[in-house]
Amino acid sequence: MTKHPDPQCPAERVLRTAEFIACKLAELPRVAIILGSGLGNLVDYIEDAIAIDYADIPNWGQSRIAGHSGQLIFGWFDSQPVIAMSGRFHRYEGWTTEQVSFPVRVLAAIGSHTLIVSNAAGGLNPQYRIGDIVVIRDHIDMMHGHPCRRFDYGTYPPQTRSDAPLRGASPYDQALSDRALETARLKNFPAHPGTYLATLGPTYETRAEYRFMRKIGADVVGMSTVPEVLQAQRIGMRVLAMSMVSNIARPDAPLRTDHADVLAAAQIAEPRMRAIVREAVQRSTTS
Ligand code: HPA
Repeated sequence: MTKHPDPQCPAERVLRTAEFIACKLAELPRVAIILGSGLGNLVDYIEDAIAIDYADIPNWGQSRIAGHSGQLIFGWFDSQPVIAMSGRFHRYEGWTTEQVSFPVRVLAAIGSHTLIVSNAAGGLNPQYRIGDIVVIRDHIDMMHGHPCRRFDYGTYPPQTRSDAPLRGASPYDQALSDRALETARLKNFPAHPGTYLATLGPTYETRAEYRFMRKIGADVVGMSTVPEVLQAQRIGMRVLAMSMVSNIARPDAPLRTDHADVLAAAQIAEPRMRAIVREAVQRSTTS
């Protein structure tokens, strides 16, 4: 007979972690944001912010890089309560899919029904330029790790069929992505609906791989986002995900991209992504 509560049980860990966070918050945030590239400076626009160090949160991943522990930030963005992850976990750092997507379960457990995610990605589509925004409409998962895989959960709980996403269903919310594209049109900046291909990384691709990815229908390629999005879909959250094009990922383009180029791309993308998030936050609290 299993003794309850079992601290190894994922659901139990989610509840304990959610309790720890929720009692520090003034209000339960309806919108959760993972601050990837392009959204990093959104923290400066969150008012009356309360920051919780990842190192203090039970069951939460700890960064292995000294001084880069990451923080969970609660506050008001455009008068709406939001919670933001400053610092995310990647499969290429050695985290499992379950570990990368665990925070999403916790954020849902404290009341968030909408997840907004951003990332930096290589632009495979020849029409894309550095700094363009891609509103993700679908993805190709070449990480091959669904968060409800039995492998990631060990032996508990048994995987049920109802855990698996509907075949062919997109995890990305159509109304939120339409609104994001509309915001870009109104504000006059380039944003494209596109397909994101996720790799395990940590290396960028060869020319042959870029050619292959383009051929199978990908518009951008990156190393994050999909584990969190699959988790969000599994538990019924609305998802808006976007990429900022940080480099041109084409077989015939010069290959070198350095850190300065990525920072320059982020500078272009930041006000654009912020405008999209503003609209999404308003929409998800009014509908
Ligand atoms: N490939 C994979 N991941 C990336 C890239 C890329 O070209 N750019 C940013 N993240």
